[in-house]
Amino acid sequence: MEDNITVLLDRVSKIYRMGEVEVHALKEVSLEVHRGEFIVILGPSGSGKTTMLNLIGGIDTPTSGKIVVGGRDISRLSEKELTAFRRETVGFVFQFFNLIPTLTARENVEFALDLVPREKRGSAKEILEKVGLGDRADHFPSQLSGGEQQRVAIARALAKRPPVVLCDEPTGELDYDTGKMILRLMRDIATEERCNFVVVTHNSAIAQMADTVVKLHSGEISSITRNEKPEDPENLVW
Ligand SMILES: Nc1ncnc2c1ncn2[C@@H]1O[C@H](COP(=O)(O)OP(=O)(O)OP(=O)(O)O)[C@@H](O)[C@H]1O
Ligand SMILES: [Mg+2]
Repeated sequence: MEDNITVLLDRVSKIYRMGEVEVHALKEVSLEVHRGEFIVILGPSGSGKTTMLNLIGGIDTPTSGKIVVGGRDISRLSEKELTAFRRETVGFVFQFFNLIPTLTARENVEFALDLVPREKRGSAKEILEKVGLGDRADHFPSQLSGGEQQRVAIARALAKRPPVVLCDEPTGELDYDTGKMILRLMRDIATEERCNFVVVTHNSAIAQMADTVVKLHSGEISSITRNEKPEDPENLVW
């Protein structure tokens, strides 16, 4: 595999079986993500976006096909190996922030760092400063606005300096301006850290800021488009 490919999907299928019912959530999906690329995955509800993200992130395993992330084939790992993979290689940002309510912003970030080898860690305070929340480190999630909570979640995802950051509807719960601010932050971080962002959304306006847009339809990739000039998040309208 080429060195600059961080994520490779090779004819990946995912079938959910529930008793007699089979759901073909992904059908022979193939994709190459290059280092530093900002990818947006677009598609209607039920098209397989979250499934794809969960497979790349090692939250779930494919029914068939091959998935390589950061040079590692994760298609057939055991649960224990997948846990280690997730810890070392991917950061997750979710729609509903998923912060631990009883921990402060700083503790939420530190908690994620806990399992990371010391030499690979940044400091929680530094990372919170990067997302503009240096002065809010000791606040609990309930004392923060939605946008601030999502910035803590981004700080948490970045703390271990993962090569790949996976975001599922990261602006879904945020108002327009806050959403754009979060997208701007993600874009800046992607450039600065040279990490890959894979952002899932049903908001097609967001696609304009991506390097590459992958459209999913009924579990299949209907198009892959590369933007010559990704739009500044500031200029997005939705
Ligand atoms: N754990 C599961 N068990 C059974 N079926 C599932 C499971 N997870 C997802 N599916 C089905 O797989 C298909 C793809 O779901 P997925 O969550 O990937 O869609 P999505 O594109 O993320 O949709 P949304 O925009 O609504 O979040 C859907 O038909 C869904 O019902
Ligand atoms: Mg989803």
